[in-house]
Amino acid sequence: MPDKAPNTKVGILTSGGDCPGLNAVIRAIVRAGCGSNFDVVGIYDGWKGIIKENYVKLNTKAVAGIVNRGGTILGTSRFNPFQEEDENGNKIPSCEELLLKNIKKEGFDAIVSIGGEGSMHIAQKAHEIGVNVIGVPKTIDNDISGTDVTFGFDTAVSIATEAIDRLHTTAESHHRVMILEVMGRHTGWIALHSGISGGADVILLPEFPMKIDEVVAILKRRFDKGKLFSIVVVAEGAEYIEKEIYSSNESMAENVKLDDFGRKRLGGIGNILAEELEKRSGYETRATILGYVQRGGMPTAYDRMLGTRFGIYTVGMIKDKKFGRMCAKRGNEIIDIPITEAINKLKTVPPEMYESAKVFFN
Ligand code: F6P
Repeated sequence: MPDKAPNTKVGILTSGGDCPGLNAVIRAIVRAGCGSNFDVVGIYDGWKGIIKENYVKLNTKAVAGIVNRGGTILGTSRFNPFQEEDENGNKIPSCEELLLKNIKKEGFDAIVSIGGEGSMHIAQKAHEIGVNVIGVPKTIDNDISGTDVTFGFDTAVSIATEAIDRLHTTAESHHRVMILEVMGRHTGWIALHSGISGGADVILLPEFPMKIDEVVAILKRRFDKGKLFSIVVVAEGAEYIEKEIYSSNESMAENVKLDDFGRKRLGGIGNILAEELEKRSGYETRATILGYVQRGGMPTAYDRMLGTRFGIYTVGMIKDKKFGRMCAKRGNEIIDIPITEAINKLKTVPPEMYESAKVFFN
């Protein structure tokens, strides 16, 4: 009798902001992986878990009942093991050697990194130094190239659309302009989809700057037609708004807080816009910042399904040793592409899509 082939040891980590559907991916990898005789290990808190050797054995029992749960059972962080400078520009020791040492020590044959754009850069770097990485794209922002869609996006759009529906009735009752600020650091996918689905009157995306006076003109046209309320949806990353208002104010750059990926912490553009719109238009204006509500809680059925398909596909990629690659959705197929293809550029909203949304800006 030939010796039984040694098990494949797979580490799974979730990195970056959490996202509805992460647990569906973890569960699918564990269920399909155990069926393929893999040893599956959960790595806590993203890449930090390898440095800290913070692991948990995953089996069918450990992932029971999680498909409908938001967040990630493994915890997450924006820890970057290759970071060379802290947020003040001071040199910090890279964890590269320790990362490789600990992966070898634990005997991981593959690391599955479920993450967004920032985490894919880390995954690619890890691949380049010899780690057998497979990427699974996640983000509510839907801004990763190479895949038609990421899981989490559908849930976020549903929550934002419901918020717009709710704002409509109160806006109408009080004859107010209501601003809803949604997430979207570099791209306005959530703003566009929820804005159109919720019947917003103006949608402001990071990709296509609009002057505040143009927004005021749209609101005025509506009021002149007897529509005494308006809904404006703005993506948090629409920084041109702030720049237009504070163009001569140096103090804007002060007190900027950064996240662990060294990116500016966003949130609050809706309030700035509300004040300025009210000043210029004279209409009573209120802002609601949807914030973390849009990425917390139960994933939609669509996101559970997409996460599950990605998870099952990933197990096939591990068997085929497709390292340095990321699974992706194209049409109705799940495929895989080099991680480099996903990180070369962001997937932004195409101009023609925004143009068609403008049909409703009146
Ligand atoms: O995951 C992406 C995202 O949703 C961005 O739209 C947003 O800027 C960011 O997360 C905020 O997350 P955190 O405050 O956890 O860094």
